[in-house]
Amino acid sequence: PIPQTIAVDGPAASGKSTIAELLAQSLGYLYFDTGVMYRAVTLAALRQLQAVTDERAVTHLAETVHIDVREASQDDGRKSDVLLDGVDITWEIRAPEVDANVSVVSAYPGVRVAMTEQQRRIGKRGRVVMVGRDIGTVVLPDADLKVYMDASVEERARRRFDEVRQRGEAADYEAILASMRRRDEIDSTRKVAPLRPADDAVIVSTDGLSIEQVLEKIQALVKAR
Ligand code: C5P
Repeated sequence: PIPQTIAVDGPAASGKSTIAELLAQSLGYLYFDTGVMYRAVTLAALRQLQAVTDERAVTHLAETVHIDVREASQDDGRKSDVLLDGVDITWEIRAPEVDANVSVVSAYPGVRVAMTEQQRRIGKRGRVVMVGRDIGTVVLPDADLKVYMDASVEERARRRFDEVRQRGEAADYEAILASMRRRDEIDSTRKVAPLRPADDAVIVSTDGLSIEQVLEKIQALVKAR
């Protein structure tokens, strides 16, 4: 049988969201990127608290803000619409300040509890490709297929650099590389739900591969189940 729940994990810019979206499209499944939820809480904290250092206040925010992720309503390169208390924040959550602070926010255990609960509810319905850092290990440990995508940090920074430039924004490769290294470090060494492949995940290295090649590999895994 074709897997009903598919978990895709991996570090920043490993290509996981692009691939997962295409995979979900080809299967007619929901594509759900959990990273946007941590980004939305981070943006809310930066706006309302001016910082992310007060763990109690940030956790309270995570428990009370309303985050909505919906099918993309516009054709401007977005993969979904992200709403924070009803207001569209799809592009705001990609800002460098959010990149720089999101790993601190997502390391707070109470924030993770609040986000994980919502993600499990969505996962339970099935026919979903869920993307993040801890989907195969914590959020959906019973997922039918777990994929862990990886690539060298230099290649990932180059992809992010190209993405930012394509949006017509100024980009600094060295700054992106440094920010990504720091985020990888915090994400993989945190106490709760660190970034790591689940024991039963299939590891897919995307270094030097095109999107089509990676997608083919993963579609073969789906068929092989
Ligand atoms: O995937 P993306 O780069 O948008 O994720 C942003 C950040 O959100 C990650 O660096 C990580 O700190 C956090 N995150 C997480 N668990 C997830 C998804 C994202 O901790 N399942």
